[in-house]
Amino acid sequence: MSRPDKERPDSLSFATQAVHAGNAVDAGSGAIRTPLVLANSYALPEDPEDLSWSGFDVPLYTRNTGANQRALQEKLALLEQGEDAVVLATGVAALHGVFFTFLRSGEHAVVSDVTYEASYRLFAEILPQRYGVQATFVDTSDPEAVRAAMRPNTRLVHTEVIANPTTRVCDIAAVAAVAHEGGALLSVDSTFTPPPLYRPLADGADLVVHSLTKVINGHGDAMGGVIVGAREHIDAIRAEAMVDVGGVVSPFNAWLISRGAITLPLRLRQHVSSAQRVAEFLAGHPAVAYVTYPGLPGHPQHALAERQFGGWGHGWMMAFALDGDAALQNRFVADLRVVTSAVSLGHDESLIVHVGPTGARTAYWPEEFRRYGHLRFSVGLEDPDDLIADLAAALDTVRA
Ligand SMILES: Cc1ncc(COP(=O)(O)O)c(C=O)c1O
Repeated sequence: MSRPDKERPDSLSFATQAVHAGNAVDAGSGAIRTPLVLANSYALPEDPEDLSWSGFDVPLYTRNTGANQRALQEKLALLEQGEDAVVLATGVAALHGVFFTFLRSGEHAVVSDVTYEASYRLFAEILPQRYGVQATFVDTSDPEAVRAAMRPNTRLVHTEVIANPTTRVCDIAAVAAVAHEGGALLSVDSTFTPPPLYRPLADGADLVVHSLTKVINGHGDAMGGVIVGAREHIDAIRAEAMVDVGGVVSPFNAWLISRGAITLPLRLRQHVSSAQRVAEFLAGHPAVAYVTYPGLPGHPQHALAERQFGGWGHGWMMAFALDGDAALQNRFVADLRVVTSAVSLGHDESLIVHVGPTGARTAYWPEEFRRYGHLRFSVGLEDPDDLIADLAAALDTVRA
């Protein structure tokens, strides 16, 4: 935490850190908020001969580092309890930063067979076809399946903690042990499980990725991504993905995300408690074919989620479908008055998206996802009674 009179406050509670970390009294103006610095260049020393033009230790050029990136990195490293963090333009830029920094031609990765679409496409098409990196897709909720897929040249295991879209939960400590036995790093996309809900580094993950576009910013108005981990790994990503490939976040987006993250613990509490109620409502409704949410006792990894996520609950993301065809799912979505039909997730407003069972990666999804399609539902900050009433009214209309 960068208030001038205080040390990094590892001992303070998460809510206090979320407010103060990465914020400093501005030396120039005396403002008590880190200001938005819309500059792409910083003043050079009188004799710049010793500066590395590809360095990132001193502000030089915003693609190397800048005031608002630094403030956000400081906040996120502290909240995730990692040694260092690098923020990039999007969550996908962060995933690219991990995969392209740690994998070389001729090497192999073990990858969860259920992930966000871009991770799947990178490992199914772009990395093997253009860069000679092979991947084996496995069910990472089964550590023995991960073990069986490891090869002598496996350098990376990649999984999501709660998988998008099926909500399958991965046992991070068990998979970290398997990865490390095989000499590989474990990278974890924790977008559905931000701190304090879960901190994968404490269970042995080496690199934690978040799409900051989602709940950490929380207001649906900026894009960003972060990787948190040991400084040597983060510096390697910074040098390549940020300085040489250029996936830098804009100062304005970094500033917005820093501001949004201040209320993360408050928002998360509401997201999670509303999601539990909404999931229970949907699970009890006769028109609903299935609901998958780790907080429901029938979820295949409910016990693991209870153990792994401690007291913070099971997130705010769920998937469900009505007992009917694609046209019925679309009619239901069209009838919603409070919930918005749009992609993305973790915003203040509830978002729903109807995804049909097309494309190669759907072969890995549970049978009910392939039969009915699914409605991916991000439970927002509206009053849960309003959300349930909205869902109930739309369910009644389509049933009628
Ligand atoms: C789990 C997960 N990881 C990464 C991403 C990509 O993030 P971004 O859209 O910020 O690139 C998403 C986007 O939905 C996601 O759900």
